[in-house]
Amino acid sequence: MNKTDKIKQLIDLRVQAKLGGGEKRIDSQHAKGKYTARERIEILLDEGSFEEFDMFVQHRCNDFGIESESYLGDGVVTGYGTIDGRIVYVFSQDFTVFGGSLSESFAKKICKVMDQAMKVGAPVIGINDSGGARIQEGVQSLAGYAEIFQRNIMASGVIPQISAIFGPCAGGAVYSPALTDIIIMSEKTSYMFVTGPKVAKTVTGENISTEDLGGASVHTEKSGVAHFRVESEEEGLLLIRKLLEYLPQNNLEEPITTICDDPFDRICDPLNEIIPENPNLPYDMMDVIHEIVDREEFLEIHRHYAKNIIVGFAKMSGQPIGIVANQPNYLAGVLDINASRKAARFVRFCDCFNVPILTLVDVPGFLPGSSQEYGGIITHGAKLMFAYGEATVPKITITLRKSYGGAHDVMSSKQLRGDLNYAWPSAEIAVMGAKGAIEVLEGRKISALEREEDRLAYAAQKEKEYTERFANPYQAAKFGFIDDVIEPRNTRFRVCRALKMLATKKDVNPPKKHSNIPL
Ligand code: HXC
Repeated sequence: MNKTDKIKQLIDLRVQAKLGGGEKRIDSQHAKGKYTARERIEILLDEGSFEEFDMFVQHRCNDFGIESESYLGDGVVTGYGTIDGRIVYVFSQDFTVFGGSLSESFAKKICKVMDQAMKVGAPVIGINDSGGARIQEGVQSLAGYAEIFQRNIMASGVIPQISAIFGPCAGGAVYSPALTDIIIMSEKTSYMFVTGPKVAKTVTGENISTEDLGGASVHTEKSGVAHFRVESEEEGLLLIRKLLEYLPQNNLEEPITTICDDPFDRICDPLNEIIPENPNLPYDMMDVIHEIVDREEFLEIHRHYAKNIIVGFAKMSGQPIGIVANQPNYLAGVLDINASRKAARFVRFCDCFNVPILTLVDVPGFLPGSSQEYGGIITHGAKLMFAYGEATVPKITITLRKSYGGAHDVMSSKQLRGDLNYAWPSAEIAVMGAKGAIEVLEGRKISALEREEDRLAYAAQKEKEYTERFANPYQAAKFGFIDDVIEPRNTRFRVCRALKMLATKKDVNPPKKHSNIPL
């Protein structure tokens, strides 16, 4: 072969590799409304930035007839490229090759990009579309999965890891995405479950469809396994690009502050009117968030799950921040098991990647009742407490209205190392609400009264006294638990200024192997 032929051979091999499992299977992928592994990478990365590794890797299995069938690349496209000019590593499973199933060689390709991402300190994005372990390979593919899991675990908190699920993801395969920071699922074309509908039917007799067992709605609303569901793959891939705007490349870097055309000292007049006169009426915390952040842009995470708490990313004066906010519009913003888990995970996500946290508080307390107690609200609530208490990033807390009992302490209180704790004049910071307090303190006296109207009048009078005495921010401010009471319309200005002041904040936890967060 002369030099020209050798180059031609290389070009031919590349063309062959790029065809994956062949035209017919590519057509069938498109017919399902799905992109191929390579098309997905093209949408995800900056144009022309993708550098592929291991295009010529093939499986080494000689079992079950597979020895005569082999494809260049072996079912996963791996490499690196850029998003907004910053390096990211990618693996994209190719369903056209043995259903994207994972062989030993396939796993090695993924491990290679993960190892290099750790050395370079850059995010890893995994696009999942796979029939699971390559059945012909057996235990080698199980070992391959475990190699990936171990790397996911080591990379956790070091580099951002984002998973897109654009097809099947079942069995043990679900655990790689589950170990990453964010899971995005496409509606109708993706599913995740540990055991599928057939096994569920055999073992438990349950008759359930794939969609109802592990579709995108199930995991974004019921289980909370996935953080986002998207209508199209494009939407999911662009979402990954957006998410990375708020994150640094790794845990040793800071997120990038961008130039902001929204004035940091913009006065937010509508906020002075937002809290209803009646403290039992709701309002939409999302209005507050949109009012104070740069250009009303808020990237909500876990939007459909535990709606009584809101978490997500925004920028203030160009500085990326994480926001945790009770939502009075849903279950009065109460803290329950799911809300505690959702917020705890987000607080830790922000903390490991140096994203400051703004907490907006309007919480009546923890949700009472046997279902919450039996479900372990104590342990789950403790997770959120632990996450806040352990976090060393700048922590700014604004109490808008209610902040009662244990929930007050949990929501980034001063004593959990809150750096700046502000309250609006409408804040009510106390051990409990007036009704509950009067029942405890005056219950015996009230029931001793003979006439119902006297009982009601006495209770109302006492509740009024209690409210006037305690339902305000000044008790807490008197002790320095609140650093200042601020006019609501100045909130953006005060937070932006605080973020600038806290930019050089340093705080450390005592040396230890790791904490024992109540999991
Ligand atoms: C080898 C596989 C495969 C697999 C699919 N294929 N899954 N090859 N190993 N696990 C091949 C098919 O033979 C077919 O090849 C092609 O991929 C496309 O598959 P279809 O069945 O035609 O596609 P579709 O109808 O869309 O169904 C997709 C599917 C189904 C639902 C994923 O293929 C399926 O149920 N696969 C098996 C899933 C499974 O049980 N996996 C092992 C789970 S155990 P041709 O040549 O016809 O194109 C596991 C353990 C992991 O994963 C543990 C980790 C710790």
